[in-house]
Amino acid sequence: MKFFIETYGCQMNMSDSFELRTLLQSSGLNYTDNEEDADVIIINTCSVRNTAEERVFGRLGYLKGLKKKKPNLRIFVTGCMAQNWGERLLKEAQHISGVFGTYSRSKMLEAIMSGQNQVVDIRMDRYEFLPSTIDYVYPFKASVTIIHGCNHACTYCIVPKTRGREVSRPMKDIIDDIKRLVDNGVVEVLLLGQNVNSYGRDIGTSFKELLKEVNKIEGLRRIRFLTSHPVNFRRDLIDTISELDKLCRYFHLPVQSGSNRILKLMKRGYTYEYYVDMINYIRSRMPDAAISTDIIVGFPSETEEDFEMTLKLVEEVRFDFSYMFVFNPREGTPAASMPEQVPEEIKTERIQRLINLQHSISRESNLKDVGKTFEILVEDVGKYENQYIGRTTYNKMVAVESKENLIGKFVSVRIKELSGSTLIGEIINS
Ligand code: SAM
Ligand code: SF4
Ligand code: F3S
Repeated sequence: MKFFIETYGCQMNMSDSFELRTLLQSSGLNYTDNEEDADVIIINTCSVRNTAEERVFGRLGYLKGLKKKKPNLRIFVTGCMAQNWGERLLKEAQHISGVFGTYSRSKMLEAIMSGQNQVVDIRMDRYEFLPSTIDYVYPFKASVTIIHGCNHACTYCIVPKTRGREVSRPMKDIIDDIKRLVDNGVVEVLLLGQNVNSYGRDIGTSFKELLKEVNKIEGLRRIRFLTSHPVNFRRDLIDTISELDKLCRYFHLPVQSGSNRILKLMKRGYTYEYYVDMINYIRSRMPDAAISTDIIVGFPSETEEDFEMTLKLVEEVRFDFSYMFVFNPREGTPAASMPEQVPEEIKTERIQRLINLQHSISRESNLKDVGKTFEILVEDVGKYENQYIGRTTYNKMVAVESKENLIGKFVSVRIKELSGSTLIGEIINS
């Protein structure tokens, strides 16, 4: 039996798909990159904005045609949208064989193996971590889920509904998995969770303790983590990070808004002043740290003054990079029914202004890198012949020229120039 997995959404979903692929392969199924060739197609879905859900409905429509040609084809939907829609999804698309939520991956395996049809399982009783696995695209990297779910209740966000309450994975399992991955050639790990800084609270340990242990693993070269919540990114954690040599100097800290009134309506639990103070502390301990963020524009009742506070914050912090979103009401979240929803044309106009500002700041940050030397981990081939693309500790991509295949290797590069938004480097040694 051959299977194909298609993934939408965040890095957590990508990692879930890799784990699922390993699980199915170890049960005797074969993976195929070609959906036309597959007996089983699994769509791992996202619900964070409605565009993510619309794309899945589009795909399900296309697969209905494929199933007509291949009546034995079985289609399964998993992930956040499956969790969110449950039974309703089966009603919308009757050609689906099963709907399995974020807690039900091994249940889905049972359904695949036993040939069951029209099954729905979205129970959220006990979260089951699967063994971490290599990144199938970049086999020298791995994502390792350390905590599942989120105990925050940001008023715009569907994730607490689709992923449930926080559950930490035992530290020993995480360390054993990383050691095994390193023995198999992994040099960089990404510790994953919706809010990694909460790790361990439910099992009597902490994120700080975990980082110290992971940093000790021999053969591992780089550690990243995603995502942090500013409220939980405390000074003692920053101090610890600054002392660990394998921790990459790149931090993603979603701010969402610069207006204290909007932050309160979002239930983010911090203020403009707290956020800037935290960033200043990070930079006082690690002056070279790169910082990125997420920003939502057009949250209900956001005024021009509120939005200008967001612009002010972006000017002040000078993020190396930002993911910028227009607020999208998600059914069942408090913000969806808040009064004074912002008209679409105002949202569009505001996000464009924000994008322009961020682009000029990102460009300035990239220009500062010209002439400097960095170590990059080469990940992929570039657009041109003999070109390779690697990533610095700061998570910036650098293109270099080489006749030798460098994928999976660390090389030192000097940045020659900035071409568009790409840093162009030359190899110093390899
Ligand atoms: N746990 C992370 C955090 O604390 O920010 C990530 C959550 S979410 C998967 C990723 C980003 O999507 C959020 O940071 C937020 O900016 C954006 N997002 C979530 N819900 C949204 C909504 N209803 N409309 C627009 N953007 C949204
Ligand atoms: Fe969503 Fe907020 Fe949790 Fe992030 S911290 S997943 S934005 S509820
Ligand atoms: Fe990720 Fe989307 Fe779920 S962003 S946590 S896959 S709603």
